[in-house]
Amino acid sequence: MAKLFETIRVRDLEVRNRIWVAPMCQYSAEDQDGMPTEWHLVHYGSRAAGGAGLVIVEATAVSPVGRISAWDTGIWNDQHTDAWSYIVDFMHTQGAAVAIQLAHAGRKASIFREWSGQGSIPLDEGGWQSVSATDQGFTGYAAPRKLATEEIGDIVAEFTRAARRSVDAGFDALEIHAAHGYLIHQFLSPITNNRTDKYGGSLENRARLLLEIITSVRNEIGEATPLMVRFSATDYVEGGWDEAQTAEVANWCTKAGADLFDISTGGLVTGVQIPSGPGYQVPVAEFVAERVEKPVSVVGQITSGTQAEDILQRGQVEVVMIGRAELRDPMWPLRAAAELGVDVDYWPKQYGWGKF
Ligand SMILES: Cc1cc2nc3c(=O)[nH]c(=O)nc-3n(C[C@H](O)[C@H](O)[C@H](O)COP(=O)(O)O)c2cc1C
Repeated sequence: MAKLFETIRVRDLEVRNRIWVAPMCQYSAEDQDGMPTEWHLVHYGSRAAGGAGLVIVEATAVSPVGRISAWDTGIWNDQHTDAWSYIVDFMHTQGAAVAIQLAHAGRKASIFREWSGQGSIPLDEGGWQSVSATDQGFTGYAAPRKLATEEIGDIVAEFTRAARRSVDAGFDALEIHAAHGYLIHQFLSPITNNRTDKYGGSLENRARLLLEIITSVRNEIGEATPLMVRFSATDYVEGGWDEAQTAEVANWCTKAGADLFDISTGGLVTGVQIPSGPGYQVPVAEFVAERVEKPVSVVGQITSGTQAEDILQRGQVEVVMIGRAELRDPMWPLRAAAELGVDVDYWPKQYGWGKF
């Protein structure tokens, strides 16, 4: 039996296979109020029906200020909890586990979605003042306001409340977004964190926000629910955030209550050379996996069942996440099963006649 189709258990959650859908923003909260819509029901519902083990719902903001764009989903009020719960309930009927990525964009907030404009949304057109570890803006974006030390506890509280709502909405697992140059990554990396308070300087200080969030979230949600962290394992910049710091901080996260590390790269700064190509993030994910006790997942240009199986057979990473290939083919996991000669018992009954 292919390892790809073996179950995996994380805390109290058993997941039917190791093909997980990577979080992908849909920029489809059309009323700009963070509310998921019919688009999200159909999009996420299709991926659940398509055989994925776990589907991670897109970067969902813990506060209005933390949205990347005005069309991001949120989970900061009761209406959000109810709307997500309707979507999650349907996904469960398809046998998939469902996670949510909890996010704060920091200095990369308040931008247009790709098809509505470019760069920062002006304040008089519905944009808002972003906040960060620094007052230095991301290239081409409006400058953020540097958070005062006393404000950082509010960010921790926002993640904690969002985690509570996520569990109440029925999500089986949570992921903290500490990657791709968003707020937590802005604190982790020495490139964007030049603070002199207890949240800047040493690795311990730069990791303090993430560790406070994990500790507080774990305390809020109890022991049953898996808590994952997505890291960008490297900034691709000498003297920036790197694989070794990622592995060290991941081990601290484990002690604080995290269970799985989802390894990606980049996103903090522009103008860097990213060695893209099939499975290009496998080496950094394996570097981290060799140094942490908890399972690690890898993402990035994984497009076929045999490629995914080969990655797992190398023996370091436990899960593959599929992004763009899932956008073009929600049946990707069922296609991979056919490719690997695995007979899964979760073909949607309604689609029996269409079996590969
Ligand atoms: C449309 C789109 C939206 C994305 N949104 C997110 C997101 O919300 N959170 C995140 O961590 N990564 C996001 N990503 C990155 C993906 O999760 C994934 O890491 C990346 O696409 C590489 O995997 P792939 O080659 O399989 O697509 C997004 C990618 C795409 C294409």
